[in-house]
Amino acid sequence: MEKRVQRLRRLMGERQVEALFLSHPVSRRYLTGFTGSAGWVVVTESDQVLISDFRYRSQVREQAPDFRFIEHKGKPFHDVKEVLNAAGVGSVAFEETHLTFAEYRKLKTALHPIELEPMAGMVEKLREVKEKEELEVIRDAAQIADKAFAEIVKELRPGVKERDIALRLEVLMREQGAVSSSFDTIVASGPRSAMPHGVASDRVMEKGDLVTLDFGALYQGYCSDITRTVMLGQPSDRQREIYEIVLEAQKRTVAAIKRGITGKEADRVARDYISQHGYGDAFGHSTGHGLGMEVHERPNLSLRGETPLEPGMVVTVEPGIYLPEVGGVRIEDDVVVTDQGHEVLTKSPKELMIID
Ligand code: GLY
Ligand code: MN
Ligand code: MN
Repeated sequence: MEKRVQRLRRLMGERQVEALFLSHPVSRRYLTGFTGSAGWVVVTESDQVLISDFRYRSQVREQAPDFRFIEHKGKPFHDVKEVLNAAGVGSVAFEETHLTFAEYRKLKTALHPIELEPMAGMVEKLREVKEKEELEVIRDAAQIADKAFAEIVKELRPGVKERDIALRLEVLMREQGAVSSSFDTIVASGPRSAMPHGVASDRVMEKGDLVTLDFGALYQGYCSDITRTVMLGQPSDRQREIYEIVLEAQKRTVAAIKRGITGKEADRVARDYISQHGYGDAFGHSTGHGLGMEVHERPNLSLRGETPLEPGMVVTVEPGIYLPEVGGVRIEDDVVVTDQGHEVLTKSPKELMIID
């Protein structure tokens, strides 16, 4: 595949951007390979520069050999200006969603009279379609989450605390090489399962609880994101009913994932099915999102998702039903769009698991 920086230059050409200043750590890592926590990237037509500091001198050379390294001495934005002056550009685009106002003001002062142009989503656009190597890492991250789920179900029972389960999930994933969870683990039991984002609390689980576990691994820079909902004790009729509706909505949406379907068409599959069964009001979030270096990235499977899916994109499919009196159910898989259709990366069982 064409080098990422070359693909970026093509996009810069299309958008008439003569120089680009990147401040988002994920953009920096994606483009350069540098994993350090501080630095800025400048890309012009003929130059590509990574500005960082003494701490990263040898790491940059090792991880980002394709980039010219500037070791700044406390005034990185002055180095940015030198790079831009040498390129003879009159303006530079910056990532408007990844620069604080204070940084913007400093940058503006340092670069004067070079114009600063706000820009969003350029590197994010490149990141939508994953390379083969990226897919392999995401596949591994998904497998780490699957193995953690297989273990954790053995530890779920009435009397255990949500936070203890979240901690065990963290340990189970880190034992397999994850750096951390890919987001704050959700363990939401009983009435709390009706909160779509019920981060683990001190609640002690009880018989009769639906328990939603939503977690993922951050592994070699990439995220997985899985949700399973299990039942402690026998389900009520209503609990079983909403489980089966969510499961069918989820399976139908996964089945629909293929090249060309737009985010909103995929979202419709889940939303229409749930609405037809009378629970449209109880499904208030989007059906899924892109997944990669960030746990939420492009493209979205939502009512506003215009992007047609392409091979190499990875999305989650995660419909849910949330009823304050009964509890909630969400089922989430990570799915990659392939030439032939799709491949589901998370493989944990989805049929209702009753832990009695
Ligand atoms: N818990 C984040 C998500 O599933 O999107
Ligand atoms: Mn999730
Ligand atoms: Mn998700």
